[in-house]
Amino acid sequence: MDYQQRQKRFWHPMSSAAAGHSTPTVVIARGDGNYVFDVEGNRMLDGVGGLWNVNVGHNRPEVKAAIARQMDELSYYQTFDGVAHPRVYDLADRLCAMFEQEDMQRVMFGSGGSDACETALKMARQYWVAAGEPSRTKFLSLRNGYHGVHMGGTSVGGNGVYHYNHGPLLPGCVLLDTPWLYRNPWGCEDAEELVAHCIRQLEETIAFHGPQTIAAFIAEPVQGAGGLIVPPATYWRRVREVCDRSGILLIADEVVTGFGRTGNMLGSRGWGVAPDILCLAKGISAGYVPLGATMYNGRIAQAIETGSGFSHMVMHGYTYSGHPLACAASLAVLDIVESENLPANAGSVGQHLLEQLLPLKREFETVGDVRGKGLMLALDLVTDKASRTPLNPMEGFAARVADAARKRGVLVRAIANKVVMSPPLTLTLDEAALIARALHEALRECC
Ligand SMILES: Cc1ncc(COP(=O)(O)O)c(C=O)c1O
Repeated sequence: MDYQQRQKRFWHPMSSAAAGHSTPTVVIARGDGNYVFDVEGNRMLDGVGGLWNVNVGHNRPEVKAAIARQMDELSYYQTFDGVAHPRVYDLADRLCAMFEQEDMQRVMFGSGGSDACETALKMARQYWVAAGEPSRTKFLSLRNGYHGVHMGGTSVGGNGVYHYNHGPLLPGCVLLDTPWLYRNPWGCEDAEELVAHCIRQLEETIAFHGPQTIAAFIAEPVQGAGGLIVPPATYWRRVREVCDRSGILLIADEVVTGFGRTGNMLGSRGWGVAPDILCLAKGISAGYVPLGATMYNGRIAQAIETGSGFSHMVMHGYTYSGHPLACAASLAVLDIVESENLPANAGSVGQHLLEQLLPLKREFETVGDVRGKGLMLALDLVTDKASRTPLNPMEGFAARVADAARKRGVLVRAIANKVVMSPPLTLTLDEAALIARALHEALRECC
């Protein structure tokens, strides 16, 4: 079977559809634990974790059994007004209990991260209608941020490549600089100084637009797709303070960071902050069945549930909101996340992997930075260390490194000039060493 030929029928997401263009494709046929097998039978450590989501590993019998049980019982029913099924309530209770510390009191479901973000943005606006300040419609977000591909999420996204072909986007979306020590417009290398710059810019931006026009600030606790950007430890607390002073809602897009990837159950919890709205997906069902969730704290629940006029009507939701198979899969996945304490494993194995990758920075001129938190890590590839100029992604160097690592039995992901790792949170120390070794050898081959 010629997969390179068959690829023509299918526009791969996030790839060029140009006639004649073809990226050699790795066709994954099977997964087991932390490993996947391609159609030729090659076994590879899944250093990508599917797409930052297979947090409990592939082919887990507990999850498969829960899905099969649910399939026997009820494969689908809807959850619109006046109808439900037991699993959606089970999962809603479970999530509210898990995030009680953040005062998360209500949940709405969708099928993934883009749904979770779009729902968050729309419901933030609804909150302000219910709270009697309908002029608050604008959104603040960060450069390099990624909030999915729906129209709202695209509009608040901080990377132009997602904007170019799809405008005009939503008005009233304002980008701020990312608290990124390695590359920032102030050339600032001190964490506290950088936070001060970012907070001043945030305050000035709020003053310019007027807090009475701004609905919410949305950000990832650690930026993933935008290049694995870990903010200084005090940044989120300072943002929370500014949001509180100006009434602005804080939305944590925890689509990647939720359920343990950064070493904490929530990335925002790791920063000591409780957001008003949580966007969850990926690890919530670990890729077994698509699922996303948006959660709201008591402030939002109270305002919407007592909203006057039409403002208490939740005119949003999907055919697949709270799909029974997804809820059943999620409940089984969350059992594993908690019983195996995967956030702690992600923290310790991730730290170990980071320490093993750091020497690459000394050895290779092209490795400008090695960074990460928990089990989300990246190599940032540059033309030279002094200028920190990113390697031109069109030259395909990161892709060649990923290819060379794959030949050594490890899957990693090339994103622009970065080599990104987001393995299952069940990764062992030995497997972390395997990733580090494969990357070391791959860089030796490519440099
Ligand atoms: C932070 C973040 N938000 C939202 C999304 C969109 O999720 P999905 O691809 O499931 O729609 C992603 C996907 O990678 C993400 O990383």
